[in-house]
Amino acid sequence: MDKSRKGIILAGGIGSRLHPLTQVISKQLLPVFDKPMIYYPLSTLMLAGIKEIAIISTPRDLPKFKKLLRSGRQWGLKLTYLEQRKPNGIAEAFILAEKFIKNSPSCLILGDNIYYGNNLSKILKEVGNDTNNSTIFTYQVKDPKRFGILNLDKEGRAVKIIEKPKAPRSNLAITGLYFFPKDVSFRARKLKPSKRGELEISDLNQSYLNDKKLKVKILNRGFTWLDTGTFDSLLEASNFISLIQNRQNTIVACPEEIAFANKWINKADIKKVIKDMQSSYGEYLRDLIK
Ligand code: TTP
Repeated sequence: MDKSRKGIILAGGIGSRLHPLTQVISKQLLPVFDKPMIYYPLSTLMLAGIKEIAIISTPRDLPKFKKLLRSGRQWGLKLTYLEQRKPNGIAEAFILAEKFIKNSPSCLILGDNIYYGNNLSKILKEVGNDTNNSTIFTYQVKDPKRFGILNLDKEGRAVKIIEKPKAPRSNLAITGLYFFPKDVSFRARKLKPSKRGELEISDLNQSYLNDKKLKVKILNRGFTWLDTGTFDSLLEASNFISLIQNRQNTIVACPEEIAFANKWINKADIKKVIKDMQSSYGEYLRDLIK
């Protein structure tokens, strides 16, 4: 039986805060500087060493994701595509992907979340090795009312997760990356929709917390975590990526580079990808295999 961790990218939703940009195209296909947004979460999963990944999106957008990312073989991946007919909540991903996950541990990342920081790959691999507990990643934010927030006790232990609290008791936001043991679909099936009619990821995390099976990794201020759901945050993300890339002459979230470093693909595979790429992205890959 295959026990390696499976990845899921949740890339559905309405993107109503980005209308009219998202009226005919999915938010997660919009550009963040030089590449489609979904490249960022995809790269994060690849940095965690995950090769089998399900992309979940709307019936409208799924065909476009398939056209863009294909089988994943060009990056040494195996991609599966699953429909979410309605945005019934983030935790629904584990019901939709139940057959895909089977008996494996899994990792879900939201399609509009960008992680950047030193040692990310090492941290993700370490977390991934724990197959008995779930792990969430928190990040200090200025406006905790907008996020799922983690309350800690005096000793700094996690006690409660509150979705968009009116009177936040902490500023630790739970970010869009979650590692789960193999029982996650079973637990997701037991959830009841919230007042807003969604299967809440916060309720799923709370169920692990209640059973003392939730670990918390705090991403400190040396890290950057961005979500890109509003006009300003989308532009800020593009500016951030362009700044880093131009300053360092690197590419953030380049699946070809990560796959090559992981030895999942070779030079000939990269040559195939860049044949018709007349962009600085293509130039970068040409230099990489020189
Ligand atoms: P949100 O940003 O909460 O929702 P949204 O993308 O529809 O945006 P808006 O609030 O502007 O309408 O969702 C976070 C991520 O999760 C995003 O990548 C979309 C995805 N998502 C789904 O794919 N299905 C869902 O049922 C929900 C709730 C979110």
